[in-house]
Amino acid sequence: MSKPELLPILCFPDPRLHTVAKHVAAVDARIQQQIERMLATMYDANGIGLAATQVDFHERLIVIDVSEERNTPLVLINPEVEWASDEKRKGEEGCLSVPGIYDGVERSVSIKVRALDEKGQSRTVDAEGILAVCIQHEMDHLMGKVFVEYLSPLKRDRIKTKLLKAQREAERD
Ligand code: NI
Repeated sequence: MSKPELLPILCFPDPRLHTVAKHVAAVDARIQQQIERMLATMYDANGIGLAATQVDFHERLIVIDVSEERNTPLVLINPEVEWASDEKRKGEEGCLSVPGIYDGVERSVSIKVRALDEKGQSRTVDAEGILAVCIQHEMDHLMGKVFVEYLSPLKRDRIKTKLLKAQREAERD
């Protein structure tokens, strides 16, 4: 099998990151190829999660791997939160679309999510800890929300300015 193509990752404040993703109509060859590409892109970028929105593909699809060994991919298609704990905790988050920025976001400590897997089978995932945080972060992307939107407007503007400057410098080189 040939190596999957790596996909360019959109960077904040790219307006396409605010697109609301559509429901995946069928888990077919087109979606399976997109899953392969997104997994390859996530592993290449050393990320623990990637939402389709981040690679300019606006359908409800997420890939995750929070394992130490980087060998336990989790694919969630059309994910829906069935339950989320009232208990919340603030933890530091980063994002492949917001390179070099880490800040605290409050999330439910545990969640239960229903989704289709890469074969189109329905499954529920009970998640806590880093996995619960990652799923909530990636599901926000599908709604067009980037984690910096939880921060104060002042902080968010500073991040926007910093990243735009970095992007301009990268284009010049
Ligand atoms: Ni992200």
